[in-house]
Amino acid sequence: MKNLYYKFMAIVVTWLLRLLPRNAPVVYKGLNSALVLCEQVAVLGFGKVLIVTDDFLGSSGILDGIKATLEKSGVEFAVFDGVLPDPAFDQVQAGEAVYRSEACQAVIAVGGGSVLDAAKMIAMLHTNPGPLDSFDGIQKCKKPGVPLFAIPTTAGTGSEITLAAVITDPVSHRKIPVVDSKMIPGYVALDAEIMKGMPPGITAATGMDALTHAVESYLSKASTQSTELQAKAAVRLIFNNLVAAYHDGGNMEARDGMAVASFYAGAAFGKTSVGYVHGIAHQLGRVCGTPHGNANAMVLPEVLAAYGECVHQRLADLARTVNLDEPGASDSQLAGDFIQAIADMRKEMELPLQPKDLKAQDIPGIVEEALAEAGALYPVPRYMSADEVRYIVNGLLAA
Ligand SMILES: [Fe+2]
Repeated sequence: MKNLYYKFMAIVVTWLLRLLPRNAPVVYKGLNSALVLCEQVAVLGFGKVLIVTDDFLGSSGILDGIKATLEKSGVEFAVFDGVLPDPAFDQVQAGEAVYRSEACQAVIAVGGGSVLDAAKMIAMLHTNPGPLDSFDGIQKCKKPGVPLFAIPTTAGTGSEITLAAVITDPVSHRKIPVVDSKMIPGYVALDAEIMKGMPPGITAATGMDALTHAVESYLSKASTQSTELQAKAAVRLIFNNLVAAYHDGGNMEARDGMAVASFYAGAAFGKTSVGYVHGIAHQLGRVCGTPHGNANAMVLPEVLAAYGECVHQRLADLARTVNLDEPGASDSQLAGDFIQAIADMRKEMELPLQPKDLKAQDIPGIVEEALAEAGALYPVPRYMSADEVRYIVNGLLAA
């Protein structure tokens, strides 16, 4: 009975994702493209903008070039640097209050996924005033937000191209998903220069998030010819560049490849949604506070293996995409090689394999919520049983 409900929801979600109207952002790519984007703010006629960022980036030198370019172009700015990881309502409200009091005309988001999500919500809240929990769900924003320019400083979440943001309700501690095609930023800069200071651990974790987006998108029943192209491009770029960017943060070619990979993966999963890896990872974030990219990395190879035969052909496609094919190898062998290559990458980058503080008594809740999330929201290649998900989660307990 539950599987019938899940199948019905998968059809609804698939068609919703396909039918949502959406505008593609204008994308500036390459070294110093963040500065080109800032020049365009002036070209587009904005006189004053709000820079949304976090405390660390606000006090680092990353904003210097952005501020100098805005000043040179005659654009005034205010800065809101109060975004915290997993942003909550109060930060969105505080950012919007600064936007209003400073009479800004557009938002420039400079940061990782949390900053981009908060900036999307600040832009929306200004034109759709009201309680933030009323945005919970799909297409709940009546009016478009204020113009939004996105400069991602990490290569992973893909928030610069997705139509979603997650904000936390400080009372219920619930993470509220806001899905609205009006939230896709209008302008994006994919600038490796901005990303070169990202520490190796963050590079690895966010890169594995991007890889998970691409692989789960490719396996999604909602995938289309165009999302498959984007997902494959992302997987290829990540296999070619992630480990290099991890070992040498100043490798601009690798950083550039990862910036583009994250964007393609975001474009793909924004139209197909994700799968059990995210279903489980979100629970690890909720229960153990595990950072999202780390949580995905902990279970990606295990979930792919658990899907079994139904994904072998698709994973074999991806194996061929990254040149893992050998003459005469079967799809099952290639699928296994692809999964092993991801596990090897995880090991090479010394990503943690277990969440801190995961307790045996947390596991039933994690399993139940992961099954419900993946079943009801994601067009997964096949539904897993509670035993299958429990087996994966049990594997995360420290020995
Ligand atoms: Fe993700």
